Amino acid sequence: MATGTADFVVIANRLPVDRITAPDGSTMWRTSPGGLVTALEPVMRRNGGAWIGWHGAADENLKPFEHNGLHLVPVPLSDDEIAEYYEGFSNSTLWPLYHDVVAPPEFHREWWDAYVRVNRRFAEQAAKVAKPDAVVWVQDYQLQLVPTMLRELRPDLRIGFFLHIPFPPAELFQQLPWRRQILEGLLGADLVGFQMPGAAQNFVRLVRQRVGHKTHRDMIYLPDGRTVLAQAYPISIDAAGFEELARTPEVIARAAEIRESLGSPKTMLLGIDRLDYTKGLRQRLRAFGELISDGSLHVDDAVFVQVATPSRERVDQYKILRDDINRLVGRINGDVARIGQQPVTYLHASYPRSEMAALYRAADVMVVTPLRDGMNLVAKEYVACRYDDRGALVLSEFAGAASELKGAYQVNPHDINGMKSMMLEAINASPREKARRMKAMRKQVMENDIDLWASNFLRELTSVRDPHAKNPRPV
Ligand code: F6P
Repeated sequence: MATGTADFVVIANRLPVDRITAPDGSTMWRTSPGGLVTALEPVMRRNGGAWIGWHGAADENLKPFEHNGLHLVPVPLSDDEIAEYYEGFSNSTLWPLYHDVVAPPEFHREWWDAYVRVNRRFAEQAAKVAKPDAVVWVQDYQLQLVPTMLRELRPDLRIGFFLHIPFPPAELFQQLPWRRQILEGLLGADLVGFQMPGAAQNFVRLVRQRVGHKTHRDMIYLPDGRTVLAQAYPISIDAAGFEELARTPEVIARAAEIRESLGSPKTMLLGIDRLDYTKGLRQRLRAFGELISDGSLHVDDAVFVQVATPSRERVDQYKILRDDINRLVGRINGDVARIGQQPVTYLHASYPRSEMAALYRAADVMVVTPLRDGMNLVAKEYVACRYDDRGALVLSEFAGAASELKGAYQVNPHDINGMKSMMLEAINASPREKARRMKAMRKQVMENDIDLWASNFLRELTSVRDPHAKNPRPV
């Protein structure tokens, strides 16, 4: 197969930008949703190379192009493939299965067939773009078959894989009719990265039990002499970039304006999430609503701003969630609002980074309560923006970020009463206590930023396998 010119290639389901068609037929590019893009964009900016991904629209064949200094290589998806590979197998089978089955996963054979077909297309595109001996970094659950497909086409490449979401325990993973194929797909990589050590252990255990390969700690030994390393690399953000943005006069002014337009409340609480059933929006809004209705908080004193970015809007579970949240917000506001004082401000929209930074700057308490989350970068963004050491973070113990952000007020989002008392504790903590906690979290986030994450992963990937040696780490 003819090889390409890129010595570093990232493959993700999405490109960092989506192609949007306006009602008048004109097209434009908009930043894609989600933490993966937020995290990887600065990495690509610093490392160069090619980014292979889908551009968010159906049935369009686009040529590779440059956008804001990035070299982007679009992979086309048909309308049927969006339904079966993206909305179906990726987001109605794998997504709920990997997130503790908080919604029931659906298993359909035609979705699996589309997943295989689309993964092959991504692998073929990467095989064309990558230079001999290039480093190729495959991202996330939508592309778990790509490592092996790519290795078959291009054995010269060093292939890394990173899973941005949780990897479930064997007891749940085993439900998947195609469990062995997924494990074998991932084993095409030299290095398989996870957010948490527990996820890497789940994977190694499954490989031993289901595929029968020999393993020792984080190393898997394949019969052909190749080794695969499975390790945790907790992802982060461009922490300095967020802080810099939060320090700009425009963002500071906008933060003040936000508070004023909310009626200058004593306490502003904030949630920012994709509108996703894993994020625990219902639970946190219920907890806040009860704090107002039982008199623990006064409607004149506290406001909850919830930004919910539209996501996967054609998937049934997301449609149900959208209606549920609309109803819940309507009920809370209907029950406890007073003229001019609405306790919940609900914004079903996506905003640019500068508006997010202003919201982070404005909020006294950030509430991040997923039922399960690989990492949760919003929690880290909030911390990066609080260079004043003010503000408090209420954080679910089921977010990957909880193991790093020990200064957060940690909660079990299933425990509404526990969450209510922790929210009150965060609201009422002394400035000194808040500063103590924030300082500790800031140290963690500012020192462990996205550059360190990427360089740790890539360093291990380049040292784990010399492409010309067969087995550099003997058993
Ligand atoms: O990190 C999880 C993730 O699914 C990413 O892979 C993805 O880009 C992001 O969330 C947003 O989801 P989607 O691409 O389905 O809009």
